[in-house]
Amino acid sequence: MKLIVGNWKMYPRKLGDAKAIVGKLKFPAKKLPRTKVVVCPPTLYILPLVALLGRSPILLGAQNTFTVDEGAYTGETSPAALVSSGATHAIVGHSERRALGEDDAVVAQKAIAAVRSGLTVVLCVGEAVRDPGGAYFTEVGRELRASLSGFPKNMTKRLVVAYEPIWAIGSSALRAATPEDFREMSIFIKRNLVDRFGKSAGFSVPILYGGSVDEKNAGGFLKEGGADGLLVGRASLDPERFSEIVRVAVNTR
Ligand code: PGA
Repeated sequence: MKLIVGNWKMYPRKLGDAKAIVGKLKFPAKKLPRTKVVVCPPTLYILPLVALLGRSPILLGAQNTFTVDEGAYTGETSPAALVSSGATHAIVGHSERRALGEDDAVVAQKAIAAVRSGLTVVLCVGEAVRDPGGAYFTEVGRELRASLSGFPKNMTKRLVVAYEPIWAIGSSALRAATPEDFREMSIFIKRNLVDRFGKSAGFSVPILYGGSVDEKNAGGFLKEGGADGLLVGRASLDPERFSEIVRVAVNTR
């Protein structure tokens, strides 16, 4: 099963434009074989898009959530409220949120609260720079362990890890990582997950690649890179490109 997640970030400005993007998505079949598609729009658009999507195979996710289900936390979004609005997934620990001050401890609490509420967590990890000495492995390993602190072993079925090297994200990125970069790191991540959760639970956590994914490089990550899926930023806002990425995933065995 491949998982394709679109992270719309804080785009578009208007609900009408969000509806138009979703309306233009064209997938090869109503039921996508071996592929799950999750669109993560700005939180306010989740509810109207759930209504618009009806019985389409597209699922909806949030780009962030909070550490508890309810309480005196002005302005936060409860994971329970997300579930009751129709969201099935939540991205947690995206580097753009970490850059705003979210630390590993908060990320870990959010991941736990999200899975306890019934969401599937897409936990993002990734190094800021790649040093020739390979210290980035240590950095990612440390971030992963700290972001999974206290995560219940019996909830790993609701855990997905997205490897997103920060240097490969966004329009100022030098380049995407290579499928080989991803393959190496995903083996390392898997080893850490096995250490943390045991063989069978650790091995079954899907690992996605994210960072400048487009319709041209998607196949390389899925096939040569062995990615279980992709976390797509910019290209997910273009219905033609995102549809093509999904088509590539459907056709990758
Ligand atoms: P990008 O974003 O595909 O635009 O590089 C990826 C992400 O930030 O999740």
